[in-house]
Order: sequence, then C-alpha cells, then structure tokens
Amino acid sequence: MDTMTATKVLGAGCGALLVFLLGSWAAEGLYHVGSEAHGDEEHAQGYYIEVAGAEGGGEAADAEPEIPFEEVFVNASAEEGEKLWRQCAACHKLDGTDGTGPHLDGVVGRDKGGVAGFGYSETLATMEGDWSPENLSGFLHNPKEYAPGTKMAYRGMDDVEDRANLIAYLAAQGG
Ligand code: HEC
Repeated sequence: MDTMTATKVLGAGCGALLVFLLGSWAAEGLYHVGSEAHGDEEHAQGYYIEVAGAEGGGEAADAEPEIPFEEVFVNASAEEGEKLWRQCAACHKLDGTDGTGPHLDGVVGRDKGGVAGFGYSETLATMEGDWSPENLSGFLHNPKEYAPGTKMAYRGMDDVEDRANLIAYLAAQGG
C-alpha cells in the first residue's frame, strides 16, 4: 500500500467515525428531549415502556415510589413467577438436590444457609433468621448488598412484582 492509499483509507475511517459520533450525539439529544416530556402522551415520542400492571395514569413510571413488597405479595402470581424461574434454574434445582446453588424446594421459611452439606459462603452460613418472603425479596433484589460476600453470582431482580411472583412460585415448591 503506498502512502496515498494509506492516507485515503485513514481519511475514510476518520470520516466514518465522525459521522458515527455526530449520529450518536444527535440521537442522545433527541432522547433527552423525549424523556423530559412531562408524562404527557401527546409529547411522548415513542420511548414509553409499558410497565406490566401499571395501567392508565399519566404519571411517569420512574416517579412512582415502589409499592411495599408485602402489598404486592398478597396478589402475587405463582404462574407468572414460574416464567422467571428460568433465571435461577441454571444454578438451583427444585428436586432436593444441590447444583451450583442449594436446592430451593422448601426454601420459603427455611433457615438461611440451612441446607446440610451445601458449601455456603461464610456470609450465608452465619446469617441469622429464615427465608421469609420479605427476606427473600431483599436478597433477590440485590444479593451482594443483602448478603455481602455471597457467592451467588446473580445481579438481582429490580421489579418488586417480579420478585413477589417468583417467591409465590417458590412458596408452592414444597421440600
Ligand atoms: C450463577 C448461579 C446462581 C444463579 C443464577 C442464582 N443463584 Fe441463588 N445461589 C447460588 C449460590 C452459589 C448460592 C449460595 C450462596 C452463598 O453460599 O453465599 C445461592 C443461594 C441462594 C439462596 C439462599 C439459599 C439458602 O439455603 O440459604 C436463595 C434463596 C437463592 N439462591 C435464590 C435464587 C433465586 C430465586 C435465583 C433466581 C432469581 C437465584 N438464586 C439465581 C447461585 C445462583
């Protein structure tokens, strides 16, 4: 490749990069304008994400405080929870045998770190209390924060309804 060709290639590359940068800058600008639309439907330009269960109501979803777990849990659906179980099934089983994680049949109401023979982290092995639905919700929301040092490599489940549904599903798995 002679110098001229190399220069052209470099030039083309820089041009493409510039277009890309301008493009993402413009997209970002648009996005911000949209998110500042005061929850007003006429001004919303298509980035409203429909939140399951949040019907009607013109309020922006992220302005709403989270409903307490206890209230959501009353109406939780084990059937919906079963769909979320996928996220856990890689490491947990429901047939009384342990995988990467301890078996979770019968986990609701069980002592924390209570499966004999499972190699828990120091954190879980020494944690007081049992897995009430509320405690499970706290742990699943953010495992690393609830149980610092846990070896459960799961980033957490943000949606309180999802957690309630999943825990309702687990509560139906006797052990
Ligand atoms: C990448 C593997 C992995 C995934 C995915 C995972 N877990 Fe775990 N889980 C673990 C491990 C490992 C432990 C043991 C943690 C420790 O000892 O610190 C654990 C522990 C737990 C415990 C404590 C059990 C006890 O006997 O004290 C609960 C409850 C639990 N997991 C629920 C879940 C749920 C519900 C999901 C799905 C949303 C999930 N986990 C996803 C690996 C995983």
